[in-house]
Amino acid sequence: MLIFAHRGASGIEPENTLRAIRTALDANVDGIEIDIHQVEDKLVVIHDRWLHRTTSGNGQIKHYSFEQLRALDAGKGEVIPTLDEVLELTANKCLVNIELKGINDIQVLFNCLDNAKATHGFEHQQLLISSYNHRLLHLIKQQRSELTIGALTSCYPLEYAKFAEKLDAYSVHLDVDFISEHFVSDAHQRGLKVFVYTVDELDDIKALKAMGVDGIFSNFPTRTKAHIAHLIDNGAS
Ligand code: G3P
Ligand code: MG
Repeated sequence: MLIFAHRGASGIEPENTLRAIRTALDANVDGIEIDIHQVEDKLVVIHDRWLHRTTSGNGQIKHYSFEQLRALDAGKGEVIPTLDEVLELTANKCLVNIELKGINDIQVLFNCLDNAKATHGFEHQQLLISSYNHRLLHLIKQQRSELTIGALTSCYPLEYAKFAEKLDAYSVHLDVDFISEHFVSDAHQRGLKVFVYTVDELDDIKALKAMGVDGIFSNFPTRTKAHIAHLIDNGAS
């Protein structure tokens, strides 16, 4: 079962910062999940549209210029990173799951990915692009079929993982509150991986492992990895 650091090692460091990502890399995670928004022709790594929860700013991202956003404190003196900075830091190290939040122009993302490949050697095989915005994922697949996408849902769909298969996704990302053995088996029959968020409790980790889930997003990747190692030592499948 793969471990993705959710927003970096966000349980112990300011979420979606380079500091949280470095901590996740130090924990030897399999992957790192980040959230991105577009500002002007740049992509910044932050979860919320509103700034007050995670930064020293107030109001919405859209009312800030890129330079103004970069002047904010994102926690422990960190700045809000750009996607390019994250791709440079993680190149050739682990999977990177970019979750698309506020994106207006998909070409800006393609340009950033192409530039990261040319400049930092960040290979597209390291990449998993996910979103709750399935129309955006569909557009990405139409324009750049080689990119790997993950279909996010926070509901339990009527036709299980069919929506993700229709999107030609690699994986389906489900909320831990709605996962079931039946859903996992349906997704696997469709050739999809199942990744579950957000999982930090030992009992959940055990249950998901027994269900055959392929990966989990954790805010505390070091502790979660230790839990899994312990389960394996004790003969869990
Ligand atoms: O990508 C998994 C998870 O991050 C989705 O929800 O709100 O934490 O971005 P959220
Ligand atoms: Mg996310």
